[in-house]
Amino acid sequence: MVPPPSSENALSSKSLNSGSPLFQEPLLGLYFLTLFPGVFEPIFGSSLLGKAREKGLVSFDLIQIRDFAKDKHRTVDDTPYGGGEGMLMKVDVLHAAWSEAQASIAQQRGDSAKVLTIFLSPQGPLFNQPMAHEFKTYTDLIFVCGHYEGVDERFIELCVDREVSIGDYVLTGGELPAMVMADTIVRLLPGVVGNDRSLTEDSLERGLLKYPQYTRPREFQGREAPGVLLGGDHKQIAEWRSQQMLERTQRKRPDLWRAWKAKGGK
Ligand code: ADE
Repeated sequence: MVPPPSSENALSSKSLNSGSPLFQEPLLGLYFLTLFPGVFEPIFGSSLLGKAREKGLVSFDLIQIRDFAKDKHRTVDDTPYGGGEGMLMKVDVLHAAWSEAQASIAQQRGDSAKVLTIFLSPQGPLFNQPMAHEFKTYTDLIFVCGHYEGVDERFIELCVDREVSIGDYVLTGGELPAMVMADTIVRLLPGVVGNDRSLTEDSLERGLLKYPQYTRPREFQGREAPGVLLGGDHKQIAEWRSQQMLERTQRKRPDLWRAWKAKGGK
């Protein structure tokens, strides 16, 4: 397949870390193997993720898979053996791109590296908050964003630690799922969200949804903010919030409610 004509920024691998204080090692290095590095830049250049990078908490490296193609046409895919629809991403090209990420991590971290390779695919188990907590314990994550009809199975066998899906639907590629996961994981690193305590109050952190929240004005279109929140009694507020978490989860997400009950309701 020939590269698309107007894809200058889709062609070369790129570190998005210039200007960040990476004289110190980042807490977490994120590597993305992709055919479309350009789609990551708006997300990683702005928002909390961009700030985390500026603070040197996280680094983002985009590795253009096509740079590792072996022929003059820069071919990254081929027809499946045995016939069938579509094209498969080639194992040799993917392996070379993945090796580049591994080499860069080894050079930066040496023996302290603890690397996980994640392949984004609708065939994996569904991504969730406990997985995000697990993944943040690695020094570096390599996200492999597949395209076309799939990848040669040998790449998964040889290089992939975890296959992960973000939902039971099929996207055109792994870039959006990789960004969803990166956003969720980076949020959990110390120093990224202003007040670390607010993380423990997030929906899903304890397997329950968060309680409802209100701010000024006290009354809007005939609806009053709950009086208990205005009274200043912190014990009462905490009890009301706990009760709301239970009630909301039961009503809005019966699946989570059943799982929470099955775990003993804690
Ligand atoms: N690639 C295509 N669809 C996907 C999904 N639902 N989750 C993760 N990666 C994908």
